[in-house]
Amino acid sequence: MLDRCIREAGLDKALIRASFARAASRYDEWAMLQRRVGDRLLQFLSLDSASSAAILDLGAGTGYCSRRLNRPHVFVIDLDLAPAMLVEARSLDERKTHYVCGDAEFLPFRERYFDLVFSNLVIQWCGDLQRVFAEVHRILKPGGIFLFSTFGPETLRELRDAWRRVDFGTHVNEFSGGPAIRAAVSGAGLENQGIERDLIHIEYDDVLELMRELKGIGAHNVAADRPRSLTGKGKIGRMIAEYRNGNPDQKISATFELIVGRCRRYRGPNVGS
Ligand SMILES: C[S@@+](CC[C@H](N)C(=O)[O-])C[C@H]1O[C@@H](n2cnc3c(N)ncnc32)[C@H](O)[C@@H]1O
Repeated sequence: MLDRCIREAGLDKALIRASFARAASRYDEWAMLQRRVGDRLLQFLSLDSASSAAILDLGAGTGYCSRRLNRPHVFVIDLDLAPAMLVEARSLDERKTHYVCGDAEFLPFRERYFDLVFSNLVIQWCGDLQRVFAEVHRILKPGGIFLFSTFGPETLRELRDAWRRVDFGTHVNEFSGGPAIRAAVSGAGLENQGIERDLIHIEYDDVLELMRELKGIGAHNVAADRPRSLTGKGKIGRMIAEYRNGNPDQKISATFELIVGRCRRYRGPNVGS
């Protein structure tokens, strides 16, 4: 089933799975930002949804958030595209979390099953947002909540701009913005309970440190029109100089546009269902 879905979605999804699989064993060493955003998203849970019975952590990675969602009387399923991530999650888990390898765009669950779908920094890796939200709508119970975070188009703008001054290749993934997400929410028939945007600026000692972090968490360039040959040291050096913009001795800053949303499946039988 999963392989059929991956073939249908094209080569990029296989690349995404391979990149995260390679990163899995050391993901937690690099994923400071992901944990920070995950903690923030967990705070959005109201008491009613936090005490829900069936929870899906969509794109659970090594399970940082699902371990915090898991509590007595709660049934948590971690789903991830990369089996190696789930192996890590299981090795860190002392509770009874359940693990499913699958794709957010083709969820292997029956209709109206979950009270809460939680997803931290995953849907930016999905090519078809409409499909993700439609799938989440399908598996949520009426009244069920979808709480998600994702990165918006301003993310890594300094890196993208620096590369644009060096060549015409797509070196940094493009991310969907608020309008596309709002359209996917309403297209799926979900009630939009709030979508917030925030810019986070993180300082790095140098550009290579930023690139090492991206590689460390498995965030590779998977754009369909990415350069297919290895990028030479000369080009990387020019990009770094452009990024530094004439300030070789200062730290660099990277922007991350964080989008956090909460939506709900309508309760009424004829409204959005
Ligand atoms: C940046 S990590 C976030 C992991 C975790 N949610 C966290 O907070 O640390 C993104 C995760 O999404 C998974 N992923 C990417 N595309 C996916 C898809 N289409 N369906 C399910 N999981 C996916 C990756 O394998 C990876 O584990």
